[in-house]
Amino acid sequence: MRERSLSMIRVLFVCLGNICRSPMAEAVFRRLVEEKGLAEQIAIDSAGIGGWHAGEPPHAGTRKVLSEKGIPHDTLRARQITPADFTEFDYIVCMDEENLSALKRMAPPGKTVYRLMDFAPHLPESDVEDPYYTGRFDYVYQLVEAGCRGLLDHIQANKSPSK
Ligand code: 4NP
Repeated sequence: MRERSLSMIRVLFVCLGNICRSPMAEAVFRRLVEEKGLAEQIAIDSAGIGGWHAGEPPHAGTRKVLSEKGIPHDTLRARQITPADFTEFDYIVCMDEENLSALKRMAPPGKTVYRLMDFAPHLPESDVEDPYYTGRFDYVYQLVEAGCRGLLDHIQANKSPSK
């Protein structure tokens, strides 16, 4: 995550392993934020529920789809979510129902945890499926991009995060 000031909005994407979906979302969202000239106002990171892949770059399937779209990903490395993340980040945005259940068990009382597809209500999916198991990285990219666009619209419309 880049240097941040107190007025920054902080967004953490979370999936199970932090090698497929959440690093994809981190990279896509960062590109969208940079395109809108908001890089100084929105800090972005990603983490996994589990730490099995800590220190590793994203999965080859995620790297491939990001490279095809011209979205930088070389500096991404997996890490496990920590208790401090729940206070550090304004928006904790996970990928599926299983992530949501795990995060709600870890979150302090009153902290909202979002699913990325909450921000793409025009799509029928409520979960971003796990391409680690399905192999459908291109499809997952479409969901992630739609969710990231909706999330950025939401942040721009709200300015201060909902709790
Ligand atoms: P992700 O996918 O949660 O989208 O990063 C997975 C990556 C690794 C594992 C599971 C899901 N794993 O069991 O190692």
